[in-house]
Amino acid sequence: MAPPPIDDATIHRLLGEARLAQSRAYAPYSDFHVGAALLTERGEVFGGCNVENASYGLTNCAERVAIGAMVAAGGGRPVACVVLGPKPDVLTPCGACRQVLAEFNRDMPVLCFGSDGAMRWWRVAELLPGAFDASALAD
Ligand code: THU
Repeated sequence: MAPPPIDDATIHRLLGEARLAQSRAYAPYSDFHVGAALLTERGEVFGGCNVENASYGLTNCAERVAIGAMVAAGGGRPVACVVLGPKPDVLTPCGACRQVLAEFNRDMPVLCFGSDGAMRWWRVAELLPGAFDASALAD
């Protein structure tokens, strides 16, 4: 796999934020704690963790919570995303999160880390080819 298009210091910064968010995960049902962090074009960093619910289907993943934090804070366009899972195996974002990430930047690299430092990365467009697009809504 090619090296990610982000420098090591930035990856480190994003991983730190993802780790902090992961420590705050609300996951009493799965006990699967996930953290995510977004870097914006302005250099801002926004974290998110998964937030589960007794009505399981209402669970929000860490990636979507990070996007919500970014939007609510008036952040800029996201240019990189780090996801940190709780197990050595690298997780990959769910379909819903892929669509939500695609809303903001299809070229964005998504770096997924396992708990022991393993990493794989993809662009959003690779994770969700042919994502539904707002242009489909136009007349
Ligand atoms: N989860 C995330 O937060 N991000 C992912 O990329 C995969 C799954 C969460 C949802 C749920 O709270 C738990 O992990 C188990 O699926």
